[in-house]
Amino acid sequence: MTATLNRDELKKKRDKYLFPSVRQLYSDPPNFVKGKGVHLYDEKGREYLDMFAGIVTVSVGHCHPKVVKTTVQQVETLQHTSTIFMTQPMVDLAEKLAQITPGNLSKSFITNSGTEANEAAIKVARLASGRNEVIALQHSYHGESHLAGTLTANHNYRPDIMPAIGIVHAANAYCYRCPFQKTPDSCQMECVKDIERVIQTQTSGKPAVYIAEPIQGVGGTITPPDDYFKEVKKVLSNYGVLFISDEVQTGVGRTGTHWFGIQSYGVEPDMITMAKGLGNGLPIGAVITTPEIAEKASKQQINTFGGNPISAATACTVLEVIEEEKLMANALEVGNYIKAGLEDLQKHFPDLIGDVRGKGLMLGMELADKKKTPLVQETMRLVETTKDDGVIVGKGGLYGNVVRVKPPMTITKEHADIMLKSLKKALESTAKVSVG
Ligand SMILES: Cc1ncc(COP(=O)(O)O)c(C=O)c1O
Repeated sequence: MTATLNRDELKKKRDKYLFPSVRQLYSDPPNFVKGKGVHLYDEKGREYLDMFAGIVTVSVGHCHPKVVKTTVQQVETLQHTSTIFMTQPMVDLAEKLAQITPGNLSKSFITNSGTEANEAAIKVARLASGRNEVIALQHSYHGESHLAGTLTANHNYRPDIMPAIGIVHAANAYCYRCPFQKTPDSCQMECVKDIERVIQTQTSGKPAVYIAEPIQGVGGTITPPDDYFKEVKKVLSNYGVLFISDEVQTGVGRTGTHWFGIQSYGVEPDMITMAKGLGNGLPIGAVITTPEIAEKASKQQINTFGGNPISAATACTVLEVIEEEKLMANALEVGNYIKAGLEDLQKHFPDLIGDVRGKGLMLGMELADKKKTPLVQETMRLVETTKDDGVIVGKGGLYGNVVRVKPPMTITKEHADIMLKSLKKALESTAKVSVG
């Protein structure tokens, strides 16, 4: 083992050896060496309240004892065989996913990440439908690969040379900044009509599949109205288009009422992709679909590390912990409490906070002035200031002006109060700088 470096030594080494594109959230990042529950610790032992859970990944808290026990036991027993050999953890996980997903979703392909899960889902959708074109939404994020990077509609992450072919984007349901300058009470779902317009004008009229996040995560917690997905589903049915719900962030209970975010919209997709919170930090992803669709992927699919015993066994325990500790109910209760706290801050700082949105523990607060001008520098400063105060929150949105609150689902109201106090302090100092 190499000795623990201090923060400056680590920064120098990082800059020398990593791609510069591997950017950190902070200009002056802490050197985290330990995590326990909802807290992170730097190399000097300073404690930070983690309200972002990695990137929305540590679903049951850092180093949860029961999860760690499973991981260690599995590491000591069998680490690897690959998908061409039969092992129980992968099969157990697939069985559990069939139990917790809606409708007839029951066949899984286990991967290492959300990107891979989306890749696999698009591939199967194309094979099952015999069609090629894909509809995604503006402001979306679907991953890092060539295909997933093109599904992504945010210039900060999109490849600038040779995007993948056959992918078009429709307007998203971003009510605070409606792409059609309408308001939810009178818009008549212009964004749903846009999907039909895109099908008619930018595809052959027979696209294979539509992919959407129930709440856009990286896009800035963009939360569609309650009827949105039901209306989308009608359009998709008319054109025979399959529906992938990308639940890499909204999955495994985070939105508080159901295992998967799309369920709260009363809609059954043809496929669900997931990752992040499923492994609580271990690399894993999955796509689940119906037997009819899965059987169309008739060629052998190998994934060397997908469904590996360590990640799969760990994921089974993560799901068990979510059930045993009633973390979905906690996500709803504490999530509602935090949302009310953020709305209260919005009342105090109407010139700084334009919108508060989200469900459960998938929350966002968009910093904008009364004319909705994105407050980009202010957001960066707020995220840095709260970090200096010992509270980690995330940042996102196309303009980088959305504060993202997506903590481990084990969070308590006491922790929430600490964060809200820290945000208030940071907003007060931001308001002073803005005025001054
Ligand atoms: C909605 C969504 N889909 C896919 C991905 C890609 O997942 P991964 O980083 O595990 O490849 C992410 C990652 O942030 C995501 O938020």
